[in-house]
Amino acid sequence: MPHAYVSLAPLLPALGLTGPLDWAAEFGRAAPVDLEIGSGNGEYLVQRARAAPERNVVGLELLWGRVKKTLRKIGLAGVPNARVLYGDAHLALDRLIPPASLACAYALFPCPWPSSETDRRRLFGHAFLRLLNSRLAPDGTAFVVTDDRPYHDWVLAQVPGTGFRATTRLVGPDHATKFERKWHAGGQTAFHRIDLVKREHLALPLKEATPMRTHLVARFDPARLAMRDAHADDVRVRMKGFLFDPLQAVGMVHVVVVEERLKQDLWVEIVPATGGWRIQPARGCNAVMTDGVQMALDLVLAACEGAAGRGDGPA
Ligand SMILES: C[S@@+](CC[C@H](N)C(=O)[O-])C[C@H]1O[C@@H](n2cnc3c(N)ncnc32)[C@H](O)[C@@H]1O
Repeated sequence: MPHAYVSLAPLLPALGLTGPLDWAAEFGRAAPVDLEIGSGNGEYLVQRARAAPERNVVGLELLWGRVKKTLRKIGLAGVPNARVLYGDAHLALDRLIPPASLACAYALFPCPWPSSETDRRRLFGHAFLRLLNSRLAPDGTAFVVTDDRPYHDWVLAQVPGTGFRATTRLVGPDHATKFERKWHAGGQTAFHRIDLVKREHLALPLKEATPMRTHLVARFDPARLAMRDAHADDVRVRMKGFLFDPLQAVGMVHVVVVEERLKQDLWVEIVPATGGWRIQPARGCNAVMTDGVQMALDLVLAACEGAAGRGDGPA
């Protein structure tokens, strides 16, 4: 089977983790932790783990296909000091990676999203750099290598006020990653490296799960449930679809929640309960419990109240 992952043991699935990562427990030893953000197929991760067996090395990657290839590389290389954290970098830094717990963080060829210089998908914006600063140890360092000069300039413009001092230089194709090979094959021989050294430590605590207030409605008619949207400050919630299983009397609402840099697709269930119907995050939907998810529950409540019926529905 292509890209079979060999072993899942080095996998840390961000959405399945409930609390802050304990690096020493995860690796079975205390050692400096290096984090590669956007580790792609894992080439550099494995090189680094091999070259520095005295360090704990973590790749952070959003796409499962690339995580799977990374797991295979780790398995075949037999490097016990490598892990891959599967999830979004903002989510991981915000909620899982403890403050001051990283010795070094780096990104090789992060996506420049050249279509728009203000694109929210770009990593290494001002807020992200502040967060990264807070997760690095006081003497921690970071670096970014990019093939893209406008992206290099954009990152440098983000640095003031992040606690970092930046220096830049040109480097050769020294990292042997997929994207480096791609740009090198296209004729590029020099890449822009930005080194970030901490001038001050920013104290940003880990974000914690928002305790959820579930709802109880006395009546609910699935035939009358209408899709709704809501937004407040930086949070947008949209009901995208609804399924109702009449045999089990379970309703499932598909909701998209967008807040700050986090976008979640999740399911809210409407299930029979003493006194009516309970509205709550669906079991197993693996959502991060945020203020936006609470807004989603509140929105589904409003939709159910609007669909209460007059005694002719399943209520
Ligand atoms: C251009 S690729 C570079 C991959 C690898 N470093 C290389 O040089 O081949 C950028 C990588 O960053 C990952 N990425 C983009 N946004 C991310 C995010 N928010 N969190 C985690 N990974 C992300 C992408 O999935 C992709 O694998």
